[in-house]
This record gives sequence, structure tokens and C-alpha cells, in this order.
Amino acid sequence: MNVLIIGSGAREHAMAWAVARSSKVSTVFVAPGNGGTATMGGKVRNVSIKATDIDALLDLVARESIGLTVVGPEQPLEAGIVNRFREAGLKVVGPTAEAAQLETSKVFAKEFMKRHGIPTAGYEVFNSLASANNHVETLSTCSTNVESLPIPSWPQVIKASGICAGKGVIIAANKDEALSANTAMFESRIFGDAANEVVYEDFLTGQEASVFALTDGENYRLFLSAQDHKRIGEGDTGKNTGGMGAYAPAPIVTPEVMKKVEEQIIRPTLKGMADEGHSYTGFLYVGLMIDNGQPSVVEFNARLGDPETQVVLPMLKSDLFDALLASVDGGLEAVPFEMQAGAAATVVMASAGYPDSYETGREITIDPAVNDLEGVLVFHAGTRREGDTLVTSGGRVLSVTASAPSLREALDRAYRAVDAIGFEGAYFRRDIGAKAL
Ligand code: AMP
Ligand code: GLY
Repeated sequence: MNVLIIGSGAREHAMAWAVARSSKVSTVFVAPGNGGTATMGGKVRNVSIKATDIDALLDLVARESIGLTVVGPEQPLEAGIVNRFREAGLKVVGPTAEAAQLETSKVFAKEFMKRHGIPTAGYEVFNSLASANNHVETLSTCSTNVESLPIPSWPQVIKASGICAGKGVIIAANKDEALSANTAMFESRIFGDAANEVVYEDFLTGQEASVFALTDGENYRLFLSAQDHKRIGEGDTGKNTGGMGAYAPAPIVTPEVMKKVEEQIIRPTLKGMADEGHSYTGFLYVGLMIDNGQPSVVEFNARLGDPETQVVLPMLKSDLFDALLASVDGGLEAVPFEMQAGAAATVVMASAGYPDSYETGREITIDPAVNDLEGVLVFHAGTRREGDTLVTSGGRVLSVTASAPSLREALDRAYRAVDAIGFEGAYFRRDIGAKAL
């Protein structure tokens, strides 16, 4: 069968790599793909169609007899790509636009979790500067939660409801910061229409981790848990990014925690969505805060994470294609879904200046010795081919991954590969996975 992967990041490069391993797959098309998917050779080829150009993607699927489409990023999901493909009688992995609201509307997600008793931070929703400012005035000035004073206190987490590339969250330490955030969102409109509605959440303490499921709407299979590194700087400092590295599994997600995640979060979410008429299908990303063994939902995403995919997929021993097809055709509960023993880590190499402005077009050199490093996979994100040279074309450039019997060895291998790759201004964190060692 021919398969189409939609997207252009390292997540999609990892998906193309995993799907191409299946003997049942003939050609893997990636739209639009990147410099990595352009040069995998074998079964994988890029098609120059934007991830949101649904009409052109439908034409491609008809022209190339594509039997299964997998949607990587959230924008086409929000635009209803799954609805359109299903109306055309096509097989597609992902949720409908209605079901994808678990990611694309934080207001929808919070109200849904409240209706179904799914553990998450307390919240309030505002749709004007005046109402948000009034709310700030009512908050306690205490800096800690005092049990006899059940008023939410500082910090407060202020979120644009819509999607904004993981950047729509401001953590306000006090009243002044909250008032500035309100002005930035409602008046300066730094997040545009994504902040037409704004969610105020109580601040959760604990450790973050993510859990990923593939679901047909009722049955689901779990990948390994993972931990992302969202901040640009070592020691989790500086600005938020799309993600600077990840590892899997996350030791904080013990079997007991995973059991709670399944019982208190995943099952009620799938049942609740189905009961409300928006059966949730495809990948479900559950972003968690775990405090004293109790998980709460920080966010849902309607897709796999980037860079988490780059560690989660290499740890899947079974055929990903079989599972993807079963998630559409049925039989997901019976398909093999085995994980490798050991661990995987990925280190993101970024352009100088990222996540602010950065320059592109820098030549990338990869020492061929990287190909001989055991367990190493170099997934591309912002790269492009210019004739015979590979050049940078984005903020996050490469996601250098390694798997090994232990996390320490996986990290050693990944950093050995990073040291054999260069481009002017390359930036990466040296402390990926350090917390888990
Ligand atoms: P989100 O886009 O909702 O995942 O938020 C981005 C990041 O902000 C998360 O990964 C957390 O580090 C932080 N965050 C979001 N919500 C909360 C919360 N309620 N309490 C503490 N930190 C949070
Ligand atoms: N790594 C976080 C995300 O994909 O949203």
C-alpha cells in the first residue's frame, strides 16, 4: 500500500522512517517533507504540497493510489482534513476538526474535562480585557495556597485558547504580570485571534511528562511515555521553544501512574468524546503534571509531539503501519504493539537565535561516520537540499536520536553524533535527559 505522511518536521521524518520499514508499504509520500525525507531514498519521496492545502492533497491521494494518510501537525486537523478525507471515502489517521478541539480550543478541553471529572487544574475563562482584569483584582495577594483561604493564588497560568505553536502560555507571578498579560493578549493581540478567549489556570506543581495513545475511538494502544525539554536554555531556563530534546521512557511515569492515566484520563476522554458525538480517533497526546504519583492533564494535543515522536517511534518494535491501518479499519486491540527494552534520547540542533529570529541557508555537514554509530538516527526538521548541499531552513534544524540499552548510553550516542554534525551557529542543549539519570 502507498502511504502519505503530511507535515515537514522531524516528527514526520520519523513517521516516514517508521512506516517505510513495513514490508507492506510500497511508497511513502511526504507532503511537503524536508531535506531529510527528500534524501532517504528507497520508498520515501517528497511531494511539494503544503500541509494545509487539502484540495491538492486529495488530488495527490487519487493520483498516486494512496491507501492511508497520516496527519502530522495540528493546523490541517483544525482545518478539517480528516472530515474531508472521510467524506471522500479515504482512510486517514487523525481526529475530525470537532474532536481535535481537545487541542485547538483550550476552553473546549477544560470544559470537557470538567464535565467528565478528568483531573486538571482549576480554571476560569474570559473573553474581554475588562473581565480578565476584574478577575485579577479578585485574586488573593497571598503567594502560597493557604488551606483556610480557598482562593486561587499566584502564580497563575494564562493561556490563549487557540493554537499558537506552543507559545500561547504566560505564567504570571503576580498581579502586575497578570494585568500585562491581559493587555498583551486582548489589546496588543500578540497571539491574534487565538486569544479571543483566555483561560486562567491554577498553577500545578510536580514533574511534567507525556503519554501518547493511538486510538480507533474506543480501543487504544500506548506508546512509551516521554519527557520534552521546552525551554531554550540548559537547566530549563529562558524562552519556550517547540522542544529542544526528549527522552523515553520517562521514569516518573511508573506503572502505577500509567494505570491512573489510563483509568482517570484516557478511558474517560475516549468515552466522553464518543458519548458527545465526536468520537476521538488518531493520536492522542496527553501532557501531564505528576505530583506525588497523581497525574493531572496540562494539555491535550490531537497529534504526536515533536520532538517526542523522534524517541517514541524508534522504541516501537512492532510494525507501525499495521497499527495505523488497524486504527482506521478495526482490530487495533489485537495488533502487535511491542516496545524495545532500553531507552531513546533526541537532541535538537537549532539555528543561532532560535526561538527568536534566526538566519537560514547555512550549509550543514554531517560526518559520514555518523551512519556507523550504533542506534543513531538523524531526523531532519528545518533542512532543505540545494543541489548537492544540505542547508538550514528553519529554527529547529535536526533532531539527533539514539536508542540504547540504557538512557545514559542513548545520550552518549546521541551527543557523539551531534559532535559529528556542524553548521554555523548550531545551538543545542547539553543537558537533555540529565534529570532522569
Ligand atoms: P501548554 O501549552 O498548555 O502545554 O503549556 C505550556 C507549558 O506551560 C507546559 O508545558 C507547562 O510547563 C506550563 N503549564 C501549563 N499549564 C500549567 C499549569 N496549570 N501549571 C503549571 N504549569 C503549567
Ligand atoms: N513537544 C510538544 C509538542 O509537540 O506540542
